[in-house]
Amino acid sequence: MCGIFAYLNFLTPKKRSEIVDILVQGLQRMEYRGYDSAGIAIDGSNDIESPHSKVALLRKAGKVSVLSDFIKESADDLDMDMEYNIHCGIAHTRWATHGSPRDVNSHPHRSNDKNEFLVVHNGIITNYREIKEYLEKKGHKFESETDTEVIAKLTQHIHDRYPDFSFRQLVETVIQQLEGAFALAFKSSRFPGQLVASRRGSPLLVGIKSNSRLQTNHFPVSFSKDAGWKWGDEKQTDGRRFMSNHATHLRDESSFVETPNNILDLSIDSRDVCNLPVPVDESQRRLSAFMNSLKNAVRSSNGSAKLEISDSTTAVRPFDSADWEVEYFVASDAAAIIEHTKQVLFLEDDDVAFVEDGALTIHRISRHADNGEQKREVQLLEMELQEIMKGSYKTYMQKEIFEQPDSVVNTMRGRLLPSRQVVLGGIKEYLPDIKRCRRLIMVACGTSFHSAIACRQILEELSELPVVVELASDFLDRETPIFRDDVCLFISQSGETADTLMALRYCKPRGALTIGVTNTVGSSICRESHCGIHINAGPEIGVASTKAYTSQILSLLMFALTLSDDRISMATRREEIIDALNDLPNLIREVLKLDDKVHEIAQQIYKEKSLLIMGRGFNFATCLEGALKIKELSYMHCEGIMSGELKHGPLAMVDEFLSICMVVCNDHVYKKSLNALQQVVARKGAPIIIADNSVPEGDLAGMKHILRVPKTVDCVQNILTVIPLQLLSYHIAELNGANVDRPRNLAKSVTVE
Ligand code: AGP
Ligand code: GLU
Repeated sequence: MCGIFAYLNFLTPKKRSEIVDILVQGLQRMEYRGYDSAGIAIDGSNDIESPHSKVALLRKAGKVSVLSDFIKESADDLDMDMEYNIHCGIAHTRWATHGSPRDVNSHPHRSNDKNEFLVVHNGIITNYREIKEYLEKKGHKFESETDTEVIAKLTQHIHDRYPDFSFRQLVETVIQQLEGAFALAFKSSRFPGQLVASRRGSPLLVGIKSNSRLQTNHFPVSFSKDAGWKWGDEKQTDGRRFMSNHATHLRDESSFVETPNNILDLSIDSRDVCNLPVPVDESQRRLSAFMNSLKNAVRSSNGSAKLEISDSTTAVRPFDSADWEVEYFVASDAAAIIEHTKQVLFLEDDDVAFVEDGALTIHRISRHADNGEQKREVQLLEMELQEIMKGSYKTYMQKEIFEQPDSVVNTMRGRLLPSRQVVLGGIKEYLPDIKRCRRLIMVACGTSFHSAIACRQILEELSELPVVVELASDFLDRETPIFRDDVCLFISQSGETADTLMALRYCKPRGALTIGVTNTVGSSICRESHCGIHINAGPEIGVASTKAYTSQILSLLMFALTLSDDRISMATRREEIIDALNDLPNLIREVLKLDDKVHEIAQQIYKEKSLLIMGRGFNFATCLEGALKIKELSYMHCEGIMSGELKHGPLAMVDEFLSICMVVCNDHVYKKSLNALQQVVARKGAPIIIADNSVPEGDLAGMKHILRVPKTVDCVQNILTVIPLQLLSYHIAELNGANVDRPRNLAKSVTVE
């Protein structure tokens, strides 16, 4: 759920203090994701002769700054001037799923008190209890309440039984025992200077920085199975039939009794590991050669020792120069890597990335028919560091609200052509299929779900197709019927939301065409959908989604426009929408001028217990989204109410004391909106009004607060009406002293169910 960061320097000498700074800074870049504790593991020996013999584990509940202070306090025990030519460090910010935020539950987790194997983990291991029980029986002592600790202990356990396993083989064996979602990075005092990382269901990318030129932009994937490894195969063992696939441990299919003992005993039985890819003597030879080189490659702070590197061969030579040096960064978030390098590769589920002797190799256990790409491409990250910094704004959220005139331009750039055509490159090839579909289904969570509600009506109108909107969690709970002629859109800022991703994985095998609508290139939803629309709002750091929401609406509007580009009957409607979109950045600038007025209103209501936001038609989504913003930021009870439902219940709450906000726009439901307003006023309600500037003064006579936004086309209006509510939620939260960028109990990216 939270942040992983690992850093390996190979022949790029770094003082221990520099390594610590890089790790801590990596964590700081991911702070916006929400976390409760942080930690690092680095080589911890002060002895120049055996610099890798000990691992120092430093972890603390609380902010990264608490960890940073704690590291400074530990400086007496750690010679911060010690210099490493080759070193691997791992770091983590945690968002607890198992065990409260305490120092001992913080990551990295360790295999034993000698810190032999260390792991950082994002996600949840669902079968950790069984593994823990098994390992406890085998004598392993657990110190935390986390699910993660089993990973470190299991690695140790397998290592103890199979000491000849390489670090990668150990991790490959371990991940096959794990169920659930994870991104992992491992460090070990047994394998100094090596790093192993893997993922299943949680994002992970590898950054590569070197003065040498990369030999290739494609890292080939090696399959253990090719070398005789049989995990992925169905096979006959000991008279019983076992089956394993990439996501499960070994199973006895004929009479499946899943006990930890048989899972683990069987899975690491020598019968199953006799076909390991690297001959034992070869791996030992390489290891000892490398250990020697490490020993010699370390210089003390006074530079007395000399640099000597072994001539040990590596399987892949990634760089074209003879004496290449390299730094690798592994992170769950590009924001932690971007300041070091723009060259990254995104790992796929079940990939194992392994760095040994400075060479990166990508492995998978078995080749499946649908594995697709057999190589991982090095990509160039396009975002700039300043894009993810706060600039002159007080908070990221404030910056992101005020960025909307620009972010909407970015969303439309190159898509809304001067010829009034709309071209969405990511779905172009699929457009004929999409137009032929039987229904459109939009699946999302939270704010992204509200963007689906905001656009449902215009999609129905322009596509003339039935349009269904689904909360991803409920969609999965219901096991909703999906057909081959359905087109399913998965809307997600992060592209990693577990429920939305699982809904995608549910729809794909049922034959539906899947479209990802995300803000994160390289995210799981992005990669796993057939085609997609990148909303291109730029990185969104504030936990509360603002600019991504308005860009999601825009993207869906453009999607609706492309579906109707051949309908002559809709030409006029399309043109008025396209013209409105071209004006949008200016109109948003106008709305943002309301900030001071919204602040005044916030000062009057920030102590209220409750607020109702009412509206209908295109603006119903604004009510839901405004209410979500206020709830998540200021912890005030707030409800978005369809004003058509007033008489069916909510009206009973209305009196002179209840805070109410109503959205009244001059659209096809205008009369009905005015009716609702009258009903509220008749019960002595005194609502704050958000109205477009074409609503006659007389219709709003007697209202104390009126926030006027520019009038635009009905289906675009909700982009303008939501902004005063984004500002209102921001100011209420600030006045209440809440942390605007990191509301309590929430995280930016929800990668667990
Ligand atoms: C938005 O303010 C919330 N933080 C939350 O509802 C969010 O929209 C939801 O978790 C979905 O995230 P996604 O767009 O990254 O899938
Ligand atoms: N499940 C792990 C824990 O509770 C990892 C949580 C995370 O992703 O930070 O420690």
